[in-house]
Amino acid sequence: MAVEQRTESDRLADLRDRYVARGLSTPPLYVARAEGACIVDVDGREYIDFAGGLACQNLGHGFPPAVAAVHEQVDRYLHQCAMVGMYEPYVEVCRRLAELSPCGSGEQRSLLVNSGAEAVENAVKIARAATGRPGVLVFGNSFHGRTLLTLAMTGKVDYKRGFGPLPAEVYRAPGPYPYRGIDTDGAIRGLELLLAQDVDPKTVACAVLEPVQGEGGFIDMPLDFPPRLKEICEEHGILYVDDEVQSGVGRTGPVWAIEHYGVEPDLLVSGKSIGGGLPLAGVTGKAEVMDAVDPGGLGGTFGGNPIACAAALAVLDEVASDEFRSRADDIGARIRSALEEIAGRVEAVGEVRGLGAMLAIELVEDRESKRPAGPLTKRTTQSARERGLLLLSCGLYGNVIRILVPLVISNEELARGFELLEESLGDAGAGAG
Ligand SMILES: Cc1ncc(COP(=O)(O)O)c(C=O)c1O
Repeated sequence: MAVEQRTESDRLADLRDRYVARGLSTPPLYVARAEGACIVDVDGREYIDFAGGLACQNLGHGFPPAVAAVHEQVDRYLHQCAMVGMYEPYVEVCRRLAELSPCGSGEQRSLLVNSGAEAVENAVKIARAATGRPGVLVFGNSFHGRTLLTLAMTGKVDYKRGFGPLPAEVYRAPGPYPYRGIDTDGAIRGLELLLAQDVDPKTVACAVLEPVQGEGGFIDMPLDFPPRLKEICEEHGILYVDDEVQSGVGRTGPVWAIEHYGVEPDLLVSGKSIGGGLPLAGVTGKAEVMDAVDPGGLGGTFGGNPIACAAALAVLDEVASDEFRSRADDIGARIRSALEEIAGRVEAVGEVRGLGAMLAIELVEDRESKRPAGPLTKRTTQSARERGLLLLSCGLYGNVIRILVPLVISNEELARGFELLEESLGDAGAGAG
């Protein structure tokens, strides 16, 4: 009888099951190393990476200038705590964020923290301090994090089940979702009703919106929605918070996705790719808003860690360059045309959407009913992994496949990735059009 060969992945899977919390959902992939848009597992299998460490690798795994900056910083010091001893990398990241800020031309300041959720929480704290109001407006299909306040702000029950009670004073208006019948007018009408029925706008501190909703399904806001929201915010003295944790740092072409919309937010929340793979996030905004909090009101032990800041300086320099922008635009155009070609052949693709290189396909049981095809999506991502392509799903019903490929991928790898995607759709049972 043949003895089954146990792989390194099998060994790690056993340890994972034994020691890692069940509530953390992990795929059967055990990474040994990664470079650019390629991941190699512990058994030597190669994968084309269309997941980018969940949007943290816009510049690819091991972006050389970030790696070099990290090596240099490691020999200087690893940690200080900005509240114990301030250091240049922290100040320099805040300077770059000010130079690149979409929040208008006046003086800009930033706070650095460890994660997107922590940054969103701090943006709410700052908005409350600046306005003296408690309310927080959010939108359908939003994702703002997994801490208790940000869970309340996130629009998906799957993440919240069993974790309540969640903080109060969070109000949700419908988010635009043209494919599913909510256009700008519908969303604005919903917001007006919310402000008439549920919460007095004079008690609202901020409205928080992702210009392209990430976990919610890569729903790019219609071009006129952010400007109309901004008008309503201005009318009522509500601060506009632009959550760019997933859409920012060059993912859609410009450094910040809000630049597509011509809106000046009051606060910008950044994260994910900004640290080039190290944990870093930030809140940036007009000095008069940021400085509403008295000294000591903001902080944290590790926020703005020097190594993460060193990497971030290299990342921000790169994403602000013309060369990066033109390659990101080119990759975005290639992804869109590959997805549209697939949509032309595969009936289950209901919509191709997104902005720049932040693109996705929504899978449906049929194009008429538009019933979400969640199980088909799951089978597709599983089959893709078996074929050597890492894919992520998203969306309220888990039926959207999003492309978060590192924006350093070669044209050949990109084309091969889309071949594997189409083959995986076929394996999963998606009918040809
Ligand atoms: C738009 C947005 N905001 C906030 C977060 C939370 O970021 P983190 O997971 O770093 O806490 C995410 C994470 O996916 C996100 O996509």
